[in-house]
Amino acid sequence: MNILAIETSCDETSVAVVKNGTDVLSCVIATSMKLHAESGGIIPENAARKQIEYIIPTIEKALQIAFPHENILARDETFEQIDAIAVTVGPGLIGSLLVGVETAKTLASVFNKRLIPVNHVQAHIYATFLSKTPPQFPFLSLVVSGGHTDFVYVEKHGSYKRIGGTRDDAAGEAFDKCARIIGLGYPGGPSIAKAAEQYISKNPNSKLTLFPRPMIFDKSLDLSFSGLKTAVLRLVKTNEKDNVYSKEQLAAEVQAAIADSLIKKTLRAVESLNIKSVVLCGGVSANIYLRHQMEALLLFNKVSLSLHVPELVYCTDNAAMVGSCAFFNQNNDFVLSLEPNPELHF
Ligand code: KG4
Ligand code: ZN
Repeated sequence: MNILAIETSCDETSVAVVKNGTDVLSCVIATSMKLHAESGGIIPENAARKQIEYIIPTIEKALQIAFPHENILARDETFEQIDAIAVTVGPGLIGSLLVGVETAKTLASVFNKRLIPVNHVQAHIYATFLSKTPPQFPFLSLVVSGGHTDFVYVEKHGSYKRIGGTRDDAAGEAFDKCARIIGLGYPGGPSIAKAAEQYISKNPNSKLTLFPRPMIFDKSLDLSFSGLKTAVLRLVKTNEKDNVYSKEQLAAEVQAAIADSLIKKTLRAVESLNIKSVVLCGGVSANIYLRHQMEALLLFNKVSLSLHVPELVYCTDNAAMVGSCAFFNQNNDFVLSLEPNPELHF
């Protein structure tokens, strides 16, 4: 079964063709990130305007890559090879979501295809089903992105329960805000990771305990990151006079504080659940330090669970994960009166 998947929840316009939920025939990603780097963050209207500009060329490119022998202009023939159209309906920015949803509805109507709605947070989890060794049910998933930090218990396809997560800022948001305070570029995750790596390679034995890890001793599976940016802001202010810390050291400290909070709570979660695998996914799962720390934590604590992290290209927003999620959650069919929902929950 070939699914044409569309993802436009934020600043990436992505279209993929995914076969049977696991084989990516094509996945094209256009991004307006450069524009947002200039403004230091995402301006929703600008993101939506770029979605409109990119959506049709991205669909054409994805179809051309998936079916290279087809004359892409003979649309009926091309679409004969597509069994369903999947689209992210939320959560996300309303203007951006509308572009994807309206485009998907139009294609479904014109080519008479089934339409499958996809929850963006669930789709991040399915990025790990695009690998040769998918997680085993039941599993715990830590979804860490720019808008979400959720512990999700996944019993089987279609059964998702949020069992904890951030009470305020998301982990990616914390990276982005702290990077701005330190004076590193947007998006903050990759720029902090790069600066941190420079510091750690020169100071491999540094303890990295400068910033607080709120709630890590709390019994719940909740987290809090809003205090981190206040602590960073305070230190950066005094550092302007004293000049004790380099940007690279501050980046390493921020990265360690976020990673530490995430892995300590993951350990608490796996100790209390009867699961077979752990999934780490979402944009922040592209962080190499976090990936290594998570692996080390499970090994060190002799937790005999398999850890599943998406390939780097499928950590941040992409339509391949939407196509996979749609394939395994097909009971979600919807009608052409569908509306996007920026606040969509499980
Ligand atoms: O999943 P995603 O692409 O979009 C949302 O659904 O939000 O995640 C974007 C977030 C941003 O906050 C970005 O700074 C963060 O993921 N991110 C990273 C890295 N790459 C992206 N955070 C830490 N380290 C990275 N290497
Ligand atoms: Zn995302």
